[in-house]
Amino acid sequence: RTDRTDRTDRSAVKVIAHRGSSAALPEHTEEAYRRALEEGADGLECDVRLTADGRLVCVHDRTVERTSDGRGTVSAMTLAQLSALDFGSWKHPGEPRRSPVLTFERLLELVADAGRRVELAVETKHPVRYAGRVESELLRVLGRFGLLPAAPEESAVRVMSFSELALHRVRRAAPAVPRVYLWERRLPVLGRTRSLPGGASIAGPGIELVRRDPGMVAALRRAGHRVHVWTVDRPEDVELCLELGVEALITNRPAEVLARLGR
Ligand code: G3P
Ligand code: CA
Repeated sequence: RTDRTDRTDRSAVKVIAHRGSSAALPEHTEEAYRRALEEGADGLECDVRLTADGRLVCVHDRTVERTSDGRGTVSAMTLAQLSALDFGSWKHPGEPRRSPVLTFERLLELVADAGRRVELAVETKHPVRYAGRVESELLRVLGRFGLLPAAPEESAVRVMSFSELALHRVRRAAPAVPRVYLWERRLPVLGRTRSLPGGASIAGPGIELVRRDPGMVAALRRAGHRVHVWTVDRPEDVELCLELGVEALITNRPAEVLARLGR
């Protein structure tokens, strides 16, 4: 464990809503993100994929089966085809609530309308399948919304990936955008330079890895890295992350985590 002085202040830790307020509402829908903003989340996490006609949509899976009433692969469907599907009713079949696919641009409009600073943690899926087009389109849209920073410390946006390739692409095209390297199984190998894979500026381990090896977080912090952990829903996991000096908690339950933090 870390020294107690390394603990994160309860008021300072950032609470990021994973796919919106997604324990309560269907993930990646406008209502799930609106709820997260109402609940006071500091930021929003989303996964982005490219449609067949080159638009970014907020969908986690490769296919639409789990979270919609349709069938097919996101990258093989146009935005018009995806827009004909309902992404809202799968979660609570007894009380259907229709919800269209959420475009990344619509999400940025919600953030712009929030009237306060909202952090965005955007995960690009999938680097091999899209051969870099998802990262370049993401940066183009961020630029259009004035969200490309001049310096990393002023950025409200960060790009996350399990893929070193994706992070290198972002670094080359927009070096001031902070990048989070995600991992869930293997421990990171910090070489002589102690730098993160993919030239990332932030470490993003999954909570199971943190539980199994809390010393790994301490080592990352000693190497000077910021640590953002996903997906932190349980009270004991919130406490563990605070004890370890984690900077941001990515959670499906932002209201519960904020209440636990006394906010
Ligand atoms: O926030 C990172 C986390 O979302 C990565 O896993 O599968 O939920 O996208 P996944
Ligand atoms: Ca994700």
